[in-house]
Amino acid sequence: MDFSTLIKERHSVRSYLAKHVETEKLNAILEAGRLAPTAANLQPITVFVVEGKETLAKLAKAANIYDAPLALIICADKEVAWTRPFDGMQTTDIDASIVTDHMMLQASALGLGSVWICYFKPDVVKKEFAIPENLIPVNILAIGYADESSTPEKIRDDMGKFAIFTDGE
Ligand SMILES: Cc1cc2nc3c(=O)[nH]c(=O)nc-3n(C[C@H](O)[C@H](O)[C@H](O)COP(=O)(O)O)c2cc1C
Repeated sequence: MDFSTLIKERHSVRSYLAKHVETEKLNAILEAGRLAPTAANLQPITVFVVEGKETLAKLAKAANIYDAPLALIICADKEVAWTRPFDGMQTTDIDASIVTDHMMLQASALGLGSVWICYFKPDVVKKEFAIPENLIPVNILAIGYADESSTPEKIRDDMGKFAIFTDGE
């Protein structure tokens, strides 16, 4: 599938088949995350792979992961991520989200469904998985084979929010 079709067809999946995600597919998804750019190439992202009934149940204490058979917790290291000197803005969330987006699109390209999750209790995630203090859980990506019969319509605003500055040449 070409890239334009992939991004048109990708949508959040909130119902999954009880089917294991093959190790080769998981590895390809993690590789897509590894190749993602990060500010100053500091690579402050750690991804925790969560699979198996009991381990997923621990994550479900912190978030609705829609009974997906696989979830990734994408964490940013606040001691490593780049900080903009002018205003102190740190790129933890940005770096984590680019890694997440790469993995989400790779999952789609492999025929898998996924949903990006920010509605979770970070303190519970940190406790359940003994995540070190310096790592901030930024996103969860739930992944699996979609259990759905139709593709939802993509509802997006028109291009009005995309301003073009040009000198008119
Ligand atoms: C930063 C971010 C956080 C999100 N958090 C959640 C979430 O906690 N739970 C959820 O069900 N969906 C979540 N989503 C999915 C969005 O609701 C979804 O992407 C949006 O409605 C557009 O639909 P689509 O993904 O099907 O195109 C999140 C998406 C993004 C990008």
